[in-house]
Amino acid sequence: MLLGTLALAPLLPLAGALRSANGELPSEVGIAPKRVAVIGAGAAGASTAYHLAQNAQNASIPTRIHVYERSSRAGGRSTTVNAWSDPSQPIELGASIFVSVNHILVAASKAFNLTSANEQSYAHEDIPELGVWNGEEFVFVMEGDGSWWDIAKLVWRYGYAPIKTNALMKKTVGKFMRMYEEPVFPWKSLSDVVAEVGLVGTTGVTGEQFLKEEGVSDKFANEIVQASTRVNYASNLATIHGLETMVCMAANGAMSIAGGNWKIFDKMLQSSPSISTHLNTSITHISKQPDKTYNITISSGEITQYDEVILASPLQFSKLIIGPPPQHTPDQIPYVKLHVTLFASPHRLSPASFGLADDKRVPQHVLTTLHPSEKDASDSESGPGFNSISIVASGTNNLASPPRPEYIYKIFSFHPIDAAFLSRYLGQPVSDDEAETGDPDGHVSWVYRKVWHSYPKELPRITFDEIVLDEGLWYTSGIEPFISTMETSALMGKNVARLVVDGWVGKADGREPVLKDQDWEDWRFEGAKEEGQKPLKARL
Ligand SMILES: Cc1cc2nc3c(=O)[nH]c(=O)nc-3n(C[C@H](O)[C@H](O)[C@H](O)COP(=O)(O)OP(=O)(O)OC[C@H]3O[C@@H](n4cnc5c(N)ncnc54)[C@H](O)[C@@H]3O)c2cc1C
Ligand SMILES: *[C@@H]1O[C@H](CO)[C@@H](O)[C@H](O)[C@H]1NC(C)=O
Ligand SMILES: *[C@@H]1O[C@H](CO)[C@@H](O)[C@H](O)[C@H]1NC(C)=O
Ligand SMILES: *[C@@H]1O[C@H](CO)[C@@H](O)[C@H](O)[C@H]1NC(C)=O
Ligand SMILES: *[C@@H]1O[C@H](CO)[C@@H](O)[C@H](O)[C@H]1NC(C)=O
Repeated sequence: MLLGTLALAPLLPLAGALRSANGELPSEVGIAPKRVAVIGAGAAGASTAYHLAQNAQNASIPTRIHVYERSSRAGGRSTTVNAWSDPSQPIELGASIFVSVNHILVAASKAFNLTSANEQSYAHEDIPELGVWNGEEFVFVMEGDGSWWDIAKLVWRYGYAPIKTNALMKKTVGKFMRMYEEPVFPWKSLSDVVAEVGLVGTTGVTGEQFLKEEGVSDKFANEIVQASTRVNYASNLATIHGLETMVCMAANGAMSIAGGNWKIFDKMLQSSPSISTHLNTSITHISKQPDKTYNITISSGEITQYDEVILASPLQFSKLIIGPPPQHTPDQIPYVKLHVTLFASPHRLSPASFGLADDKRVPQHVLTTLHPSEKDASDSESGPGFNSISIVASGTNNLASPPRPEYIYKIFSFHPIDAAFLSRYLGQPVSDDEAETGDPDGHVSWVYRKVWHSYPKELPRITFDEIVLDEGLWYTSGIEPFISTMETSALMGKNVARLVVDGWVGKADGREPVLKDQDWEDWRFEGAKEEGQKPLKARL
């Protein structure tokens, strides 16, 4: 079946690809189309294919783009599962949110007419929106529907720290946004562009150091910013870099797509007849040929030849071999192993399990931070035994008799969530079987577990993996230790798409980066670069 698909696929998109922007067939019919393989149909791979098809069409270059995906769906780490196996109840299992400054995702959602999901509030049940738990007490609780920054209470407890942090976040995001625009965009080297936009001093230090230098109080850093880095990147402030810390605070205009964020990437792949997507298809080998093309091998053993290959997955998880070795081989880096547990229950979380009086309600989103006694813990696994518990939706459990309304919860943790944990936090006796599989009429009616290599441990660093691994061989995942989000993977895909087509039309060498950043000198960057890609723990 697979062979059939592959044999036909090259012919089908050709008719569309041969048409130029105004729909005319190019005069030189018979011109060999450019052959591109994209490995991985996540945010990075889908965005590469989408933008490449557009750029190639604009340049009137016939192009055949084959996207290979080993799983049975597009979206990668953006995926949903159905609560109670009910297709009307999709729940995000991976990447759940993007924000209004995420221009690529926002523009694509509009272009594809996707609707954003409504965030549910439980204010009518007197459930506060958010609380930060340190294992002993809630150090902060946000009651209402106001925005994160719009809370007098924050100022009351933390003085100017929230305002300072907000200003710092805006300044940092402003530098990052330059990476979208000419003349900075497109960039051939992430290490160079990070220096050019002035972010080396932000990625090179821990969040803790960065906030301290900027005069943000320890109290605000520990209680609010760290709660955010723990829920977003499973990391304490001592082990995450300053830029990713600021990304965690850039939550304005948070949104998600109704039915699942993966729809954006699925639509990108369907956007052009020059793109064909091969699901259930693993790539096992990439091999450079003497004529500078690449042969890639799929799991069935079939070999296909391409002019350009884009690897749009972390190499270390892709189970493929590049041989002979390319000029640059991406580093193996530590990723977080995150347990995501979804479950449904008719019960609210037990106030007693959080030291609250019986008539109090546990917040909808329980974030966590370190207890003061753990202040010097450098280990990200310290803390109250989980990173967050949230009510992410509510719905009707139609498997119960009679059907009943329930809450759907999501837990992020470093360890499996067992019956004892669920019994404690629901304040109900949950049996081992129930915790494992759910009991439609029980205290826990549905359970779904997934262990992800969710994102890199975002340690401070000042250099990043190469984008051009070799002539005609491109790599997107080097952006993840800089920022790991759907948007940044999509941005890298758009960047690679542009570099590829610039290469075809003879703009291959581009411009040299302009090094404006004072930090550049301060960091004695060249020396650090030669040392390799070692994460730095502190300023040199
Ligand atoms: C629990 C969780 C929560 C997150 N929360 C957010 C969030 O709220 N907002 C946000 O923006 N980001 C979030 N992220 C991060 C975000 O999911 C990632 O940064 C982003 O999706 C990475 O996209 P990618 O395309 O680079 O990689 P991936 O999504 O990993 O895509 C790579 C694809 O390549 C395929 N592949 C790999 N090897 C091969 C091969 N040999 N042959 C064929 N196919 C192959 C894989 O199957 C996969 O589909 C979260 C991640 C997790 C896990
Ligand atoms: C393609 O060309 C059109 C019209 O010139 C332009 O609006 C669009 O931005 C271009 N797209 C890309 C991806 O360059
Ligand atoms: C991929 O495989 C799954 C089962 O593993 C199957 O259900 C699905 O139809 C397959 N999809 C394609 C496009 O072949
Ligand atoms: C989106 O909707 C608008 C109007 O509702 C329509 O004109 C447009 O064609 C739609 N686009 C897509 C991609 O469906
Ligand atoms: C590479 O692929 C081409 C076309 O499929 C084939 O002719 C050639 O023999 C392949 N080379 C190797 C080394 O497998």
